[in-house]
Amino acid sequence: MEEISPGLENVYIKYTELTYIDGNNGIMRYRGYDINELAQKSSFEKVSYLMLFGKFPDEAELKAFKSSINKNLALPDYLKDILRSLPEKSDSLGILQTLLSAKASEEGNYKYDRENDIVKIPEILGNVLSMVANIYRLKSGNNIIDPEPGDSYAETFLKACFGSTDKDSIKSMDSALILYMDHEIPASTTAALVTASTLSDMYSSLAAAIAALRGPLHGGAAEGAYRQFLEIGSPENVNEWFKNNILSGNKRLVGFGHRVYRTYDPRLKTFKKYADILSKTEEQKNILEIARKLEEAGVNAFGKKGIYTNTDFYSGIVFNAMGFPVDMFTTLFGLSRISGILAHITEYVETQERLIRPRAIYRGEKERKYPE
Ligand code: SDX
Repeated sequence: MEEISPGLENVYIKYTELTYIDGNNGIMRYRGYDINELAQKSSFEKVSYLMLFGKFPDEAELKAFKSSINKNLALPDYLKDILRSLPEKSDSLGILQTLLSAKASEEGNYKYDRENDIVKIPEILGNVLSMVANIYRLKSGNNIIDPEPGDSYAETFLKACFGSTDKDSIKSMDSALILYMDHEIPASTTAALVTASTLSDMYSSLAAAIAALRGPLHGGAAEGAYRQFLEIGSPENVNEWFKNNILSGNKRLVGFGHRVYRTYDPRLKTFKKYADILSKTEEQKNILEIARKLEEAGVNAFGKKGIYTNTDFYSGIVFNAMGFPVDMFTTLFGLSRISGILAHITEYVETQERLIRPRAIYRGEKERKYPE
């Protein structure tokens, strides 16, 4: 008997050796390593390499990986022209989606080839860093640049955005890039897998993923959660706001709930740590206090249903404290996720290559004659 699984809940479409999630116990590991330990002790480059190639790089491999990323920080002129030509009101993530699609148009009659694709990955990582940095620069009224290589991906990115940066921001950006790098197969990675399963190219798969990430039920929550804090305005308003907006059923609490987790999202531990470290101004401390009180109200109301805080609830506080506006939060999430998506699509095409093509249960009209 055919059965629908709404939202593909509990439907498994691939084997993976990349990310393990235990939703009941709030456990998340990349290739067996605990996510918070990686965020604390490793680096975006080392963890990207681990996810893509199955092992940490040795010194020479790390140097070569970083160098090949740094060789791809300059965007081609046509992408710079597209960046300049998009309407001012274009949102950051929509611009990233457009630039990825433009790069896909260069792929022409793409033919899947593992070796060629693996070689292209550092180009993509370098290009996307420059895309996101220049999206931020343009939207903050600055000129487009070719980023100068720093000591790390995080430093290169922050310096390209702000001109200068500091150790705390670099470490928290590096940790955020690791924490958001992968999460098994959420809607955005699934969109990439569907595209890659047709043997389409990697840029097209990434564009599909970013299109799915935009929605407020998924990556858009990183911005939506923070907008709640701004709307509430002060810690004293939290309970009234929660009663009028959430308990009334008018809105969903953004940054809460998850398809897999029935407890706290394990990534929160590190995001909360950096939210504390980076929230230094009175305004930032006020937002953090609102978040804490709203989280408490949310857990009191929904914890018994297995609905807890997810990573998007605090990530915006960290990104804002680094100097980014709300409109950039989901785009920063997207920048982080590129490595994880590329790891999943290469793993899929390499080991389980099969066109992803589900069915629909027909319940429309039976056979009819054309009206004479
Ligand atoms: C991310 O999948 C991933 O891994 C994603 C992600 C990643 O790293 O890629 O982790 C990143 O996208 C995190 C999620 C960010 N989204 C939000 O914060 C948006 C708010 N959350 C929800 O809309 C919801 O929790 C989802 C979409 C995340 C998950 O929804 P499901 O699994 O489809 O659950 P559902 O919508 O069927 O809700 C089940 C019940 C309902 O109550 P009942 O009708 O059964 O009484 O839980 C309730 C819902 O009303 N519920 C909420 C709620 N989330 C679920 N009630 C109030 N507030 C919420 N946030």
